[in-house]
Amino acid sequence: MQQAESTKPFRSNRSGKTYRQRRYRGVFQRLVAWREHQLARRLLAVPHAGCNGHIVDMPCGYGRFYSLLRSHNLSVSAMDQSQAMVDLYRESSGFRDVEDHAERADILQPLPARASEAGRAFCIRLFQHLHHGELRVAALRTLAANERQIVMTYYDDGCLHYWSKKALMWLKGKKVRVKMIPRTTFESEVAEAGLRIVKRIKLLPGLHAQTWVVLAPAPRI
Ligand SMILES: C[S@@+](CC[C@H](N)C(=O)[O-])C[C@H]1O[C@@H](n2cnc3c(N)ncnc32)[C@H](O)[C@@H]1O
Repeated sequence: MQQAESTKPFRSNRSGKTYRQRRYRGVFQRLVAWREHQLARRLLAVPHAGCNGHIVDMPCGYGRFYSLLRSHNLSVSAMDQSQAMVDLYRESSGFRDVEDHAERADILQPLPARASEAGRAFCIRLFQHLHHGELRVAALRTLAANERQIVMTYYDDGCLHYWSKKALMWLKGKKVRVKMIPRTTFESEVAEAGLRIVKRIKLLPGLHAQTWVVLAPAPRI
């Protein structure tokens, strides 16, 4: 199964720059971004025995979380399928060329050598673009390799966001572009990838579909 090409955007540097300038400009989006940083800070504090100070930020986008990851004293391997995003990430303020690195990579393939030793992974705002369970489980397996702890988001369908998007797209005669899934579906995909949920927090409970989780390797029976 292949990921839809429409979910792999930012082919040009210009489209990446426009996204960086405009995506979090509105009041509601700024509130969402503020809350995301708050949750990221909280979940990155969850202890993990395999933490070695090295984290994979994938998909890294233009570097929205780079300074936060640095503030946790982590060395960062930043990866994205879009070369434009990787280039923008390297332009992040204070980007350290020696300790950190940014390169193009696909989450549906094994990670590049420089990232493989990382003890943690950070995966924000990707899973709603993976429309099939098979792809989501493959992505979870990539992140989970090397017994990593994962801090990530997915979109849960138990909220107003789901019904309002569905109603709006029905009125427009279009399909909903982001994939929101039931909690039970996510839980079974996590188990299939050999992981367990350690913590789960909703971005804006009942309102927004974005759900943050911390995952860790499931105990072997
Ligand atoms: C909504 S952005 C999120 C970026 C960043 N995590 C953030 O929150 O700002 C989604 C990103 O996923 C990337 N992406 C899509 N499919 C991917 C794949 N198969 N492997 C790696 N990155 C992918 C896109 O290029 C895009 O930069």
